[in-house]
Amino acid sequence: MLKPDQLLRQLLPRRFSLIQKLTILTGTVVVLFMTLFAWVNINNLQKLLVNNTIRDLDNLASTIIRMTHHQMLVDNRVVVYQMINEVANRPGIERIRMINRSGVIVHSTATDEIGQLLDQKAAQCNLCHKPGQTLIRPPLLERSRFFTLPNGKQVMGLAKAVQNEQSCSTAACHAHVASTKVLGVVDIIVSLDVLKADLASYRNRIILLTVLLIILLGASLTFFTLHLVNRPVNELLRHTARLAQGQLDCEMTPTSNDELGELMRAFQLMTNNLRQARNDLEEWGRTLEEKVRDRSEQLQRMQMQLVHTEKLASLGELVAGIAHEINNPLSGILIFSSLAAKDKRLDPALKGDLETISSEAQRCAGIVKGLLEFARDYQPKMTVCDINQVVVDSLRLVECQSVFQNVAILRQLANDLPLIMADQNQLKQVFINIFINAGQAMQDLKRGELKIITARAGDPAGGVILRISDSGYGVPEEQLGKLFDPFFTTKGTGGTGLGLSVSYGIIQAHGGTITAESSIGVGTTFSISLPPCTDSNQTDPGV
Ligand SMILES: Nc1ncnc2c1ncn2[C@@H]1O[C@H](COP(=O)(O)OP(=O)(O)OP(=O)(O)O)[C@@H](O)[C@H]1O
Ligand SMILES: [Mg+2]
Repeated sequence: MLKPDQLLRQLLPRRFSLIQKLTILTGTVVVLFMTLFAWVNINNLQKLLVNNTIRDLDNLASTIIRMTHHQMLVDNRVVVYQMINEVANRPGIERIRMINRSGVIVHSTATDEIGQLLDQKAAQCNLCHKPGQTLIRPPLLERSRFFTLPNGKQVMGLAKAVQNEQSCSTAACHAHVASTKVLGVVDIIVSLDVLKADLASYRNRIILLTVLLIILLGASLTFFTLHLVNRPVNELLRHTARLAQGQLDCEMTPTSNDELGELMRAFQLMTNNLRQARNDLEEWGRTLEEKVRDRSEQLQRMQMQLVHTEKLASLGELVAGIAHEINNPLSGILIFSSLAAKDKRLDPALKGDLETISSEAQRCAGIVKGLLEFARDYQPKMTVCDINQVVVDSLRLVECQSVFQNVAILRQLANDLPLIMADQNQLKQVFINIFINAGQAMQDLKRGELKIITARAGDPAGGVILRISDSGYGVPEEQLGKLFDPFFTTKGTGGTGLGLSVSYGIIQAHGGTITAESSIGVGTTFSISLPPCTDSNQTDPGV
């Protein structure tokens, strides 16, 4: 059982589309106007046919009067009636009769009515004999009448007055008085069958033509509306639906150059702009994400550097105290062990032990020296210098060492670098330490490669960048964060683990940064950036 609202929805027509509305409206208008046009046409045609028939009958009546005029003058009624009878034989003529001015039918092709006296109120008489007046020459159309014969046939009658002429009033036989205007009436009655058949035939043709025109008009209107309106509107609708679903990459080709074509072009332009805006927005979002990521990493690096710097500072203080305390007893050990070694009383068997004590004490002194260097509050002696020159000088000091025997040294030193403010000796200390570390990392290789690149920094300050890469064994990822920690070494007794931490301090004291990247089996790269020489840092020796 359907609910009332469901029933209503089923009964009510569904939503009409634009093309359906247009078709229904234009169809209704076309049908209405064409029907009106056909109806007016049929009516006009009917009037025209009736008027033509009336005129034909009037002409026939005139012909009969003209034809019989002479015989009437000689009062030869037999010939007159014969002539009338012959004319009445024409198809469609029902009867012809002559009525004299007294209203008596003097002759009729329907012989039974001859001699009858007609009343002036009779249909055939009251056309001229109107109440209160008699029309001598009534208008043609007013002299016709339509009626039905007793046998049911529909007919039309036309009465034409026989006017009194001069020849009539002077004729020898039966002269009429000259003042008499009308001598009698010729009344012709014709069948309406032919007229009705013609009319029906015309009407059918007009109806057929109208129906054909309606169909043709409807079909052409529908075709053109479909082609010119429906197609572009549907295309626009599809396009808008796709846009609503967020498919901004959809394309639409205008189907015409008219307003709808313009609309389609405008829509496509709008889609392209929307797509561009969305792409820009997405790109912007991506860039923003990248920027946020970069900044976060930068922040993290800075934080790590800060922690590292603080760690180094507190460690420095500690180390400085310990190194100072150790230095004095160590000097004693060194002096007394060398004195003991020279003493003649010494058992030669103990000489070797004393030499070991002396060399180990010297190693300790080296460590203590390194510690003091690490802990020392750097006061660099700043001068304007060319970093390329410092690199070349540092290389010259180490390249002959055995660790570089199988190493190819490549230099890519930019020649447009700004000058820097630096303590050249300290910088050399940093570079030499990195070169020796690199050489040691490659000494087991048959052929190593040390690459030194200097370049102008891309940052707005416009400093210099130095990259030192080797093709050595690399640093495992878990050790990379400890490289700049004091005492971190993988070289056992062969290293103090202070080289990089001292380098870190020096570079920092120069206002620069030092970082390391490494891949196991590929190599390690140290990147050092230093600020350029400016008016402010040139005059500030404390930098
Ligand atoms: N180019 C490199 N390739 C591989 N590992 C390296 C490289 N440079 C440094 N390292 C690692 O970092 C550690 C610390 O280096 P650092 O220069 O501070 O101390 P060291 O070289 O061990 O000792 P020192 O410099 O006092 O002789 C090294 O022991 C080594 O393990
Ligand atoms: Mg080292």
